[in-house]
Amino acid sequence: MTATAPDVPVDSLGFRRLMGRWATGVSVVTARDGPTDAGLTVNALLSVSVHPPALLVSLMHDVDTLPVLRRAGAFAASLLAHDQRALSDRFAAAVPPAEKFLGLAVHRGSTGAPLLDGTLGALECRVRAVTPAFDHVLILGEVVGQEVGRDVLPLLFYRSGYAAADEPNSLRLPPGGPGRKR
Ligand SMILES: Cc1cc2nc3c(=O)[nH]c(=O)nc-3n(C[C@H](O)[C@H](O)[C@H](O)COP(=O)(O)O)c2cc1C
Repeated sequence: MTATAPDVPVDSLGFRRLMGRWATGVSVVTARDGPTDAGLTVNALLSVSVHPPALLVSLMHDVDTLPVLRRAGAFAASLLAHDQRALSDRFAAAVPPAEKFLGLAVHRGSTGAPLLDGTLGALECRVRAVTPAFDHVLILGEVVGQEVGRDVLPLLFYRSGYAAADEPNSLRLPPGGPGRKR
């Protein structure tokens, strides 16, 4: 057997900082259970399979949206455009689920989950697996519906702040640098 150095513990802050260099898009994941709508801002979203189309989202184990999503057995992911920071902030706020939807224009697809207006597009999924993952829960969804929205630049999340691309080759950071914490 080859000798290897023992693992050195990685601190959570350092991990977060490094992963902050990994730019992502921003989505709002929503679900409906009966009369209850819930939703949260999510950047831990991954396209995992094409045949069939499938998505994975990683949710903190204690978010309010999780029990609603589990009961619904379905969810939607609305992909935010560059001019939809306010929606990202709204769905990241620590307020009761119903408050997030007050006065907000939404429409619904086949799963009944609310889809946000004006996005790049939205995907509707049926939940196929729910897997605990340390302090998060992984939700695997098979895509059962897709809506193509505006063909504009995306909202980006980078170094704990929002960013936007002026054009595909240029990344523009907010004045004063990134600062928005997850
Ligand atoms: C840009 C951004 C990305 C986020 N990504 C995630 C994520 O991937 N998973 C998660 O659980 N929370 C994420 N959050 C935090 C949640 O949106 C936040 O905790 C929210 O208040 C949870 O809402 P809920 O308790 O109503 O479900 C993110 C926040 C921001 C601003």
